[in-house]
Amino acid sequence: MSVQKRLQIEVFFTPAQVDELQLKDKNVVVIDVLRASTTIATALHNGAREIIPVSTIESAVKISGSLFGEVTLRAGERNGKMIEGFNLGNSPLEFTDELIRGKSVIFVTTNGSGAIVKSRHAKNLVVGSFVNLSQIVGFLSNLREDVTIVCAGQGNNFCLEDSVCAGRIINKLAKAAEDNLRIDDAGQAAVALDTTFGKSVLKMLKNCEHGRYLNEIGFGSDLKACAAVDSIPALPMQQGNTLRLAKEVNKRVA
Ligand code: MLT
Repeated sequence: MSVQKRLQIEVFFTPAQVDELQLKDKNVVVIDVLRASTTIATALHNGAREIIPVSTIESAVKISGSLFGEVTLRAGERNGKMIEGFNLGNSPLEFTDELIRGKSVIFVTTNGSGAIVKSRHAKNLVVGSFVNLSQIVGFLSNLREDVTIVCAGQGNNFCLEDSVCAGRIINKLAKAAEDNLRIDDAGQAAVALDTTFGKSVLKMLKNCEHGRYLNEIGFGSDLKACAAVDSIPALPMQQGNTLRLAKEVNKRVA
């Protein structure tokens, strides 16, 4: 009788807990429910050619250079609001088909884009949130390899919404893998948080710190979009320095 290897699941509640070299050659899921992950999934689903995540505004400006405004857009936020001189902020509702179809989007946010950049040496890097939950779980189930989940958190601190989402992914993976998982302590805590706070994702997003802040600055309707479980059948996946739809990445590789 062959003994199946138990797949390891580890969770980092903030990117500050991990060095980028620790993420090298791993299968990494980056989660920033409010709002970078949700926005990236929305943008690619609505036809953006690619998202180019960067960690500073200076890099965003430098990289966009002379292409800016034609096929290349700058998007992102500071304190939740659009950065001066940029085309778009970080509200998933802004990333409509009309505005972004065919565009390359240079993307800088306070926590999410930096977490993605930090994970860039991963073997596989995918971007997860509630809107594309089943896409993430389906990808990881088929992969049958160890998984590292990096929550973007808030200013290098723990945040509830990313941790609950990590727990939901693990809960679903455990079902698909018939409990053949070895989950680290942070992952087990995330599972418990999902059980406690994940019953109503919208309620949890309305009550968490960043959700309350977004509501105060006028982005209350983003919370509904970010809470819509499985509303966006898109799997953002790293290819080189960009994120594209996994089906596009796989087409190029095949
Ligand atoms: C971030 O990266 O910190 C966020 O996505 C912030 C936001 O725009 O809500």
